[in-house]
Amino acid sequence: MADLVVRDLHKTLGQAHVLRGVSMAAERGRIVALLGPSGCGKTTVLRSLAGLERPERGRIEIGGQVAFDATDGTWVPPEKRGIGFVFQSYALWPHRTVFENVAFGLRLRGAGKADIEARVGRTLQQLGLAHLRERYPDQLSGGQQQRVAICRALVYEPSVLLLDEPLSNLDAKLREEARFWIRQLILELGICAVIVTHDQGEALSVADRVLLMRSGVVVQDGSPGELYEEPADLYVAEFLGTNVLFHGTLGADGTIEGPDWRLPGTPREPLAPGQAVVGVLRAERVGLSDEPGEGRLAAEVEACLYLGDHWEYRLAHHSLKLRARGSARVAQGSRLWLSLPRAHLWLFADPARKDALRPAA
Ligand SMILES: Nc1ncnc2c1ncn2[C@@H]1O[C@H](COP(=O)(O)OP(=O)(O)O)[C@@H](O)[C@H]1O
Ligand SMILES: [Mg+2]
Repeated sequence: MADLVVRDLHKTLGQAHVLRGVSMAAERGRIVALLGPSGCGKTTVLRSLAGLERPERGRIEIGGQVAFDATDGTWVPPEKRGIGFVFQSYALWPHRTVFENVAFGLRLRGAGKADIEARVGRTLQQLGLAHLRERYPDQLSGGQQQRVAICRALVYEPSVLLLDEPLSNLDAKLREEARFWIRQLILELGICAVIVTHDQGEALSVADRVLLMRSGVVVQDGSPGELYEEPADLYVAEFLGTNVLFHGTLGADGTIEGPDWRLPGTPREPLAPGQAVVGVLRAERVGLSDEPGEGRLAAEVEACLYLGDHWEYRLAHHSLKLRARGSARVAQGSRLWLSLPRAHLWLFADPARKDALRPAA
């Protein structure tokens, strides 16, 4: 059974129609990532789930209970929703110790002293913070502050944990570690978690299910593999991965053609011959070889850039510009042969040249 069911949320903030019909479901022991560019409405979804925003339309069920329903005015206040919220900024109180930061909400709710001591102690222990309980936030590292923020959300034993960009304040090394332990923690606790992020690597690695958003709507909802391998449209295809893009015209038999080049591709939506199309290919799918062969494309190396763990080649096949990755330096002006697997060269209508439909030659 889904522990979180969200249907058709609409929310206006000021003049902006920020959420335009968001629906989602999440289950216990699973992590859902809300992914999308800055400003697409991710935080507004989380705040609506937590009861910090009141949508104009839609319905939210948490643990089988209706928390919000616009049609009959049902509204459960934030503290009664069984939700833990980890804010992007952590929002720790600077003049309270770690213990007091975590205990504060329990005190507000009138919990007894012994109960608070036991619950806070247990949660601090669980997150490896027991030895820091008398410290103040400014005496903690960024990673420790984040753990305190998560502790504070978990101390209520929520059935749903909401985390807004939980890794964005950590430096790169800590971030990779944190992806791992946050995922482990949620699986161990067996709760339902929704993580907001604008970072595709984070969403793909942490979540069991990813919802990619654009301007207040979910454009695709699926497993990380589905979004990466089976993107629903050009926006999803381009948002994920490192891509090589081709702009051309749809030829016969699903080819994409330019003035002096032609590549076999796979249309991913209904397209008409002669239509302006974009080809998208994940950079790691470009095969390289130093000799010609069946179906290989000759290309000249225009530049070779060192990126630490790989080299990036800038290539030209007639007027077509391409990028590929390799493990060694290659000389400028040298020749390489590329294999561009047809099944992975996805073709979509070119939104910038929608009117460019002309009869096939
Ligand atoms: N209080 C507000 N008044 C008007 N617009 C707002 C307000 N809060 C957020 N917005 C706008 O709503 C949009 C979505 O915001 P938000 O949910 O914070 O996006 P995200 O978390 O995806 O970056 C943004 O364009 C933002 O400028
Ligand atoms: Mg946000």
